[in-house]
Amino acid sequence: MAKIAFLGTGAMGSAMIRNYLKGGHKVTAYNRTIAKAKPLEDAGAKIAATPIEAVEGAEVVISCLTNDDASRGSWNGENGALKGNFKPGAYAIEASTASLEWIRELDGLARAKGMNFLDCPVAGRPDLANAGKLKVFAGGAKEDVDAMRPVLDAISAAVIHFGPVGSGITFKLIYNVMGALQVAATAEGLLACEAAGIDLRVAADAFSNGATGSPHVKLHSKNMAEGIIDDPIMFTGKNRIKDTSYGIEVINSFGAQSVLGRGTRQVWEQMVEQGMELRNDSELIDALRAAHKAG
Ligand SMILES: NC(=O)c1ccc[n+]([C@@H]2O[C@H](COP(=O)([O-])OP(=O)(O)OC[C@H]3O[C@@H](n4cnc5c(N)ncnc54)[C@H](OP(=O)(O)O)[C@@H]3O)[C@@H](O)[C@H]2O)c1
Repeated sequence: MAKIAFLGTGAMGSAMIRNYLKGGHKVTAYNRTIAKAKPLEDAGAKIAATPIEAVEGAEVVISCLTNDDASRGSWNGENGALKGNFKPGAYAIEASTASLEWIRELDGLARAKGMNFLDCPVAGRPDLANAGKLKVFAGGAKEDVDAMRPVLDAISAAVIHFGPVGSGITFKLIYNVMGALQVAATAEGLLACEAAGIDLRVAADAFSNGATGSPHVKLHSKNMAEGIIDDPIMFTGKNRIKDTSYGIEVINSFGAQSVLGRGTRQVWEQMVEQGMELRNDSELIDALRAAHKAG
């Protein structure tokens, strides 16, 4: 069993930590807002006041945070994990959906401190994280992925290895651009049906049971047609915009096209314009409806 330091006890991090504790691993957790980490004490986690404190003696350091800024500060800030006293040759695993640029920089910073590095962003909402059924998109040397397999298996239904460091986050960002596109297309399609006088519940059912019925379309068309809002919110409009922006950057960095990605980001930006970016992603339909009414 591994001695794990975990940075970030948000919806995803807390669920992953609980699964590590259930699996018999030792976890010390750090969160910027310490009060939000406290419930994990009852499950057996130690809570640290800083990332430096969290990584004391750690064999594996995993982070799951909002974005590049949050990750950069937690790894490399004043009390950042990289300044700590982890075990020599410890593994640094970045599970946040961050940019490829930052992942490459973090890989260099971690290696300079004698750590091994893997980028392991995850797919699946907090309900799948709670069930230990995430998908891990791994980037790194095969021997490092193999060495960390028991740690990655403890939170996931599948570990997919894409290639060297950076390839996990590259795939995850492309995957999330496609996901954001499907949710945006669902909102636009339903609003077009509404304009044509078609009942939204009938339309959602037909989209879900037709060739259009991907898991995203099935989930979000029902939520949008019936006004269902996740409680607690699982994924915000702001996160959709973050992932799409990092995704467009990564696609362009390889010289590939992101025409639909750019169009999709414009659709999601309507949530910011309507002051709804911290709302549930399925409420995109309400933001688009309001934007249309406002002309
Ligand atoms: N939710 C999903 O469905 C899902 C699915 C797959 C992947 N992801 C990815 O997983 C990561 C975490 O998502 P989540 O849903 O767990 O988000 P969340 O519940 O909002 O948690 C965000 C975490 O980041 C921390 N944080 C935010 N800004 C920070 C800063 N400037 N400095 C230090 N810490 C900061 C928060 O600390 P505080 O508690 O102090 O705010 C919290 O620990 C994201 O990269 C997300 O894209 C999410």
